[in-house]
Amino acid sequence: MGADHRAVWGRFFDDVSRTKGDTEAANSYISVRNFRLLRAEVLELLGDLRGARVLDAGCGTGHFSLPLSAANAVVGVDVSAEMLAFARAKGLAPVRAAAEALPFAGGVFDVVLAASVLQLIPDGAAFVRELLRVVKPGGRVVICTINAGNAALGFLRVLERKKYRHFRIYPFREIAALVRAAGGTVRSYRFLYYPFGGAAAVPGGEEPGPVPRIFGTTVVVDAVKEA
Ligand SMILES: C[S@@+](CC[C@H](N)C(=O)[O-])C[C@H]1O[C@@H](n2cnc3c(N)ncnc32)[C@H](O)[C@@H]1O
Repeated sequence: MGADHRAVWGRFFDDVSRTKGDTEAANSYISVRNFRLLRAEVLELLGDLRGARVLDAGCGTGHFSLPLSAANAVVGVDVSAEMLAFARAKGLAPVRAAAEALPFAGGVFDVVLAASVLQLIPDGAAFVRELLRVVKPGGRVVICTINAGNAALGFLRVLERKKYRHFRIYPFREIAALVRAAGGTVRSYRFLYYPFGGAAAVPGGEEPGPVPRIFGTTVVVDAVKEA
């Protein structure tokens, strides 16, 4: 997509929110069911964060920020003004900014979440570096994206070339390498199974088996910044 991808995605998601409003569909990349499975899995994985400072990078209309804000101080960032308007209407206070150039000092968040954004970013290294920069040493960075190895999605990406043409698909090994290069370690992966539900949890140091690699639709990377 080139250097103007942030403006392009900003306009794209402005249009999405105008047509779909503040719906789960406006925030999801496969389907609403996949979105719900992912949100439930991520919220469970994050566990009880009570009192944490959380960054929701690419927050959309705030479907992750809102439940997290019940017990934490949550800041969202997004490039789409229209998506952010919906988030503000829920009482959230997000900032319009690009996740690859965050307007925050280093080490100020306990947890950074980036749900369904990485596939929209051509420069994944800059994105992951920024997420790791703003989290405290010992803090967590959770990144969710399309599982590159999924056979059905690979097929769909060929069939629906137009829809997926601007997506950049990052294999889990590449995400782990980007995390390492930015000073973090992957603690675990979760491979989510859509439409059936459930997930395979794989320790960061282990090689996922063929079932999660081929049938997992979304991969959730749970990383920690080295102290
Ligand atoms: C599929 S939606 C996911 C929204 C939210 N994370 C969720 O899961 O409900 C992707 C969001 O990423 C935002 N986005 C795209 N590129 C971005 C960038 N470079 N920096 C920040 N946000 C970005 C889009 O505007 C959109 O709101």
